Amino acid sequence: MMIQTIKTTPYSDQKPGTSGLRKRVTVFKQPHYIENFLQAIFDSLDGIAGQTLVIGGDGRYYNDVVIQTAIRMAAANGFGKVMVGQNGLLSTPAASHVIRHYKAFGGLVLSASHNPGGPDGDFGIKYNIGKGGPAPEAITEAVYERSKVIERYKTLDAPDVALHQIGTQMSGDMVVEVIDPVTDYAALMETLFDFEAIAKLFASGFTMTFDAMNAITGPYAHAILEERLGAPKGTVKDGTPLPDFGKGHPDPNLVYCKDMFDLLMTPEGPDFGAASDGDGDRNLIIGKNRFVTPSDSLALLAANAHLAPGYRGGIVGIARSMPTSAAADRVAEKLGIEMHETPTGWKFFGNLLDAGRVTICGEESAGTGSDHVREKDGLWAVLLWLNIIAVRQQSVDQIVREHWASYGRNYYTRHDYEEVDATIASTLVDDLRAQLSGLVGQNFSEDLQVAYADDFKYHDPVDGSTSAKQGIRIGFTDGSRIVLRLSGTGTVGATLRLYLERYEAADGRHDLDTQVALGPLIALSERLAGIKQRTGRDEPSVIT
Ligand code: G6P
Ligand code: ZN
Repeated sequence: MMIQTIKTTPYSDQKPGTSGLRKRVTVFKQPHYIENFLQAIFDSLDGIAGQTLVIGGDGRYYNDVVIQTAIRMAAANGFGKVMVGQNGLLSTPAASHVIRHYKAFGGLVLSASHNPGGPDGDFGIKYNIGKGGPAPEAITEAVYERSKVIERYKTLDAPDVALHQIGTQMSGDMVVEVIDPVTDYAALMETLFDFEAIAKLFASGFTMTFDAMNAITGPYAHAILEERLGAPKGTVKDGTPLPDFGKGHPDPNLVYCKDMFDLLMTPEGPDFGAASDGDGDRNLIIGKNRFVTPSDSLALLAANAHLAPGYRGGIVGIARSMPTSAAADRVAEKLGIEMHETPTGWKFFGNLLDAGRVTICGEESAGTGSDHVREKDGLWAVLLWLNIIAVRQQSVDQIVREHWASYGRNYYTRHDYEEVDATIASTLVDDLRAQLSGLVGQNFSEDLQVAYADDFKYHDPVDGSTSAKQGIRIGFTDGSRIVLRLSGTGTVGATLRLYLERYEAADGRHDLDTQVALGPLIALSERLAGIKQRTGRDEPSVIT
C-alpha cells in the first residue's frame, strides 16, 4: 500500500479552543479540512514512529468518516499501531484510560462534547497526550501555527478498516486493534468503587434513572449499572448512541434534562437521577427533591470520597476552575489539603494530577473527576455518588443539607448569553476590564464591598507557565463573587458567561431560591457590565 503525499492549502481558523477544534460539521466537510488539522497535529509531535495512537469518539455524525481518515493518516505518518473502540466508540474518559492503560503515545478524541450532532450539528477533534489528558497549550499552539502554513499531508492508499470487528487488522504496515469500548473502563471503575455495596443498594429497592441522552454513555451505563450492579433494566434511558443524538442536545443540564428534573421532584419519582453528555465526561446529579449544583457536587464528593475504596486513604488536594464556586475550598480547608484555582478547561488540571498534588477536580460546567484518568468523568461521578449513598444510607437531600450545615452554602448560578455578536461581547469584556482597578474598595450596598477585582491570571505551580486573561473576577468582602468570561467552546458568535456566587454561613439560611438569593449580585453585574443593555437581550439564553 502506497503512502501518498497530497498537496493542500492552509485554513486560518484551526485554532483549538477550550477543548480541541470544535466547528460545525459543514466546516469540517470543506476539502482537506480534517486532513490539514490531523497533519498539523502529527507534525507537532516528536517521535511518533512505531508508537501507538488511540482513536475513539462519541459516535456522532461524521465520526466514522473521520476515524477512517485518521487511521490512514496515522499509518502514513509512521504510527506503529492504532487502538480504536469498536464502531469508533470511546467515551472521553474511557479514551483517557485506554491511552494510559496501554501506554499509548497519545489519542484522538472525536467529539463536540455536549453540542448537538448531525449534518447540521457540530463536530470536534481533540488531541490527548500520553498521560491521558488534553494536550497542553504549548502543543495546541504549535498545532495552530502549523495549520496556518501546512502545504501537504500524508495518507495511505488503503481500504477502510472494519470498525465493527473486534481484534487485529492491518492498515498498510500499521496494526489496527479494535477494542471493546467498555471493558477496560468498567474494570477501572470496579477498582475504585464498592460495587458490592452499590449492588446491595439497588437490591434493597433504591431506584434510579440514568439518561444517556442517545450518546456515548449508553453502552457504559447499561454494562455497569444494569449488568454489573443489578439496577433493573430500563434504569438507563436513551442508551444507544445515535449519530444525531436523536435530534437532542446532549448537555445534561436542567434545560435539556427538564423531564428528569420534574420526575425527581415528584413523590412517585426515583430516588436518584443522573445524566451524562455527548462524550461522557459531564454529569448531572439530581436526588429526590434536590438538584445538586456541579460546584456543590465537587465539594460533596471531595468531602465524602474516603467512603469509596479507591480514595480510602484520603485525598491529597482539590482543584477547581476559577468560575466554579468556592464550596470545595471549604472542604480543602477543613481537610488541611491543597486547593488550586485554575482557568476553565480540564487541561489545566493535568499537571496538578500528574504531580500528585490533587486527587479530585471539578468545574461548574458539570465536570468532575479524579486522578484515575486525565479527563472529567460523568459515570465516575455517578458511581461515587452511589457509593456514598450506599455507605451513608441517606438520601441525596439529607447528604447535601448536612454538608451545608457544617460548611455553609455557596449559592451559585451561571447566566449564559449565547450567540452574541462577537464584537459586542469582546468590547463589553474590555470595558469591564478597564473599570476593574477603580472598583476595589467600593461599597455597593451594606454587604457588597469589593475586596478585589482582576482578570484572572494562572501561574501553573508545576511547570511555571502563565495563562493570562482567563476571566474577570470581582470579589466581595463577604465571599461573594461576580465572574464574567467569554466561553471558549461556542461555535457561533460569542457566548458570555456570567457566574454569581454568595456564601451563606453554616448557621445561615440554606433554603432560599437561588436566583432570589443572588438577586442583588445579578442586578449589580448588569450595572457594571450592561450585558442586557448592550446585547439587547431581555434574559440569559440558559441559566444553570
Ligand atoms: C468543556 C471543557 C470544560 C469547560 C467547559 C466550558 O466541557 O472540557 O473544561 O469547563 O467546556 O468551557 P467554556 O469555555 O465554554 O466556558
Ligand atoms: Zn463532554
